[in-house]
Amino acid sequence: MSGESQRFLAATRLQPVDATPVWFMRQAGRCLPQYRALRERYSFLELATNSELSADVTCLPVDLLGVDAAVVFADIMLPLQGMGVDFEIREGTGPVIAEPIRSEAQVRDLRVIPAQEATPYLFPAIRDARQRLAERAGLVGFGAAPFTLACYLVEGRGSRDYPHVRSLIHSDPELWGRLMTTLTEVLARYLTAQAEAGADVVQLFDSWVGVLDRATFTRHVAPHLEALIRRLRPMLPVVYFSTSSSHLLEAIAATGPDGVSVDWRLSLAEAWPRLGPGRFIQGNLDPAAVLAPWPALESAAQEVLRQAAHRPGHIFNLGHGVLPDSDPDRLRRLVELVHEWGPSPAQRPAS
Ligand code: CP3
Repeated sequence: MSGESQRFLAATRLQPVDATPVWFMRQAGRCLPQYRALRERYSFLELATNSELSADVTCLPVDLLGVDAAVVFADIMLPLQGMGVDFEIREGTGPVIAEPIRSEAQVRDLRVIPAQEATPYLFPAIRDARQRLAERAGLVGFGAAPFTLACYLVEGRGSRDYPHVRSLIHSDPELWGRLMTTLTEVLARYLTAQAEAGADVVQLFDSWVGVLDRATFTRHVAPHLEALIRRLRPMLPVVYFSTSSSHLLEAIAATGPDGVSVDWRLSLAEAWPRLGPGRFIQGNLDPAAVLAPWPALESAAQEVLRQAAHRPGHIFNLGHGVLPDSDPDRLRRLVELVHEWGPSPAQRPAS
């Protein structure tokens, strides 16, 4: 079984498609038994920093699930390796920064070096995956958006509402601005190098931006995001992902991404007009629906497709990452369901 890169790329350009393209965030790691078998032998960072294994894992879901796009097997934390920031990825906890960045001296000491030196293993992996996928699937490169990377740097680890981050923004907006400027530069280099290596689109993961109110987002985050998107868009389409952020939707659209990935809390029918014309939309099935019995999953997926209503530029995805307990067979059946939903009206034979 295989997907289609043309279908995926056409949707990013709002062109007609023969079927709705589909892929899943976090489809490469987590739930696949083949990935788990590799993890018995290697740590996550060993896998991600080995170009050949990383390309293998990137391509797995295309072969196993039939999705229309692969996501590069990497992590949002990897660019920190070139910045002189010591971190680990702890099982069950996620990323942990040895010394959270909160002082002026620490921000000054952050290094900005060429992406090829910071993460040399990544670009051969992307070139290899691009070649292996050929026309079967698109290739999604990714990084964090500057805010979410700052969240880990400042808080030191994942958090419910990032109090140290919000407090830094309010108590020292100038230092915050410098941190965001540095991260934006690092991410621009990291994502540009991914585009040059063969990624078809890049996705900015801003998983935790929903902790901000709209005024704070607009003043202290959006200008950096806009600058990053402006650097990348001449090369390839940029997708912006966030969660719990429906209060920010218009402000997000104003930063200029080509596409927006929305979580399940807001229906696509509501999100679409609020994002305005000219954008593709990814989403937005609740990842927890994948754990439900098939008839419930089927009707939840059909509801998403009904909400999308065959608008040009719908890419079916989950509203957040695949949950680790998801059954790959379910995901494969879900891909079939999406593909069978039918072509966009422009492609249907006249009756
Ligand atoms: O499909 C994939 O899983 C591959 C690519 C991918 C990973 N991380 C690999 C990974 C992607 C797209 C990410 C993005 C990512 N990483 C985000 C944004 C998306 C989101 O879920 O909000 C965030 C916040 C991170 C930070 C991170 N890295 C966390 C919170 C964790 C902990 C555990 C987990 O599974 O989420 C990681 C480690 C990590 N990154 C793993 C994988 C496959 C798990 C490591 C393992 O195999 O033990």
